[in-house]
Amino acid sequence: MQRVYNFAAGPSALPLPVLEQVQKELLNWNGMGASVLEISHRSRQFTSVVEETIAMIKSLYQISDDYEVLFIQGGGHTQFAMVPLNLCVGQCGAYALNGVWSRKAFKEAQKIAQAKEATSVEFRVPKQEEIDVSGASYFYYCSNETVNGIQYHYTPDVGVDMVCDMSSEFMSRPIDVNRYGLIFAGAQKNFGPAGVSIVIVRKDLLGKASSTVPSMLDYKTYAGYLSMYNTPPTFAIYVAHLVAKWLIDEGGVAEMERRSIIKSNLLYDTIDSSNGFYFNQVEKQSRSRMNVVFNLENKALEEHFIREAEAENLRYLKGHRILGGMRASIYNAVSIEAVEKLADFMKKFATRYA
Ligand SMILES: Cc1ncc(COP(=O)(O)O)c(C=O)c1O
Repeated sequence: MQRVYNFAAGPSALPLPVLEQVQKELLNWNGMGASVLEISHRSRQFTSVVEETIAMIKSLYQISDDYEVLFIQGGGHTQFAMVPLNLCVGQCGAYALNGVWSRKAFKEAQKIAQAKEATSVEFRVPKQEEIDVSGASYFYYCSNETVNGIQYHYTPDVGVDMVCDMSSEFMSRPIDVNRYGLIFAGAQKNFGPAGVSIVIVRKDLLGKASSTVPSMLDYKTYAGYLSMYNTPPTFAIYVAHLVAKWLIDEGGVAEMERRSIIKSNLLYDTIDSSNGFYFNQVEKQSRSRMNVVFNLENKALEEHFIREAEAENLRYLKGHRILGGMRASIYNAVSIEAVEKLADFMKKFATRYA
């Protein structure tokens, strides 16, 4: 069986050694004579998985004991609601709007409280001086807009607690967690399968939710029960545990950043040197190193592009249904070799059809 070059936006490519280990131990995990899928989350063995995954996340991002690391179900969308439910106390957040996911989070927050717009821009991230957080209890932004291919290459400094949706760039570069009140990320892009989100929250922000907030939507519940107040998504956490180990073995987030610069440069250079055959509308300084979005000048060729790419085993390159065009998601598990193949294919395709 030949595995394809997988450029899916999420769920997306997982490291092959992780998948192989899952396969190897699926029927008999840890010598227990049962699958990890079949054992209690309260078992000593599984509790260790949770504790070790937290420890590895803390070590990869150098997170201090001022923070809790939580595992929560319901994906990024549930975080869009949990953030205002927990952090809009009196005042609410100010949201930077610069893509599909930040706008969606803002709409959700507006259902819950008086969330405000901090700034709104297109095809780029806002500049620091464009962000207005006056009267807000937190500043919310999405550091990598998966659909639009837009990424912050600076950390805003705004004077209120920062909340960041890092779903599609989690563990792809070093960050200073101390700059944030709360970070969340759905695992299904860079850290595991769908089903679990990682939330990193400063401890003093816990316990602020009103007493009417359901237990399962209160971060404090998760912090108080090692994320096991109810049955957690055990399989997703187990795979995330293997991904964290893989990340450490590969050299951690600094190495992931080094690779992602090489990979994204390969694709952006191909686009920029195609004499307009391919184009990307995002401002250069705001281009994503995780999701490279591009169009063909001749739209009629886009179907051909997808079909011919598929014939070369280059898969899942179709852009998000909202934007159309193409999108190559080049997360941590996508190798430099895969991206070289894609760049090579793009060049040949352009020569053939230009
Ligand atoms: C940046 C970002 N935030 C949030 C979401 C929503 O995540 P979920 O589908 O897990 O709710 C996505 C999904 O693609 C995303 O890319």
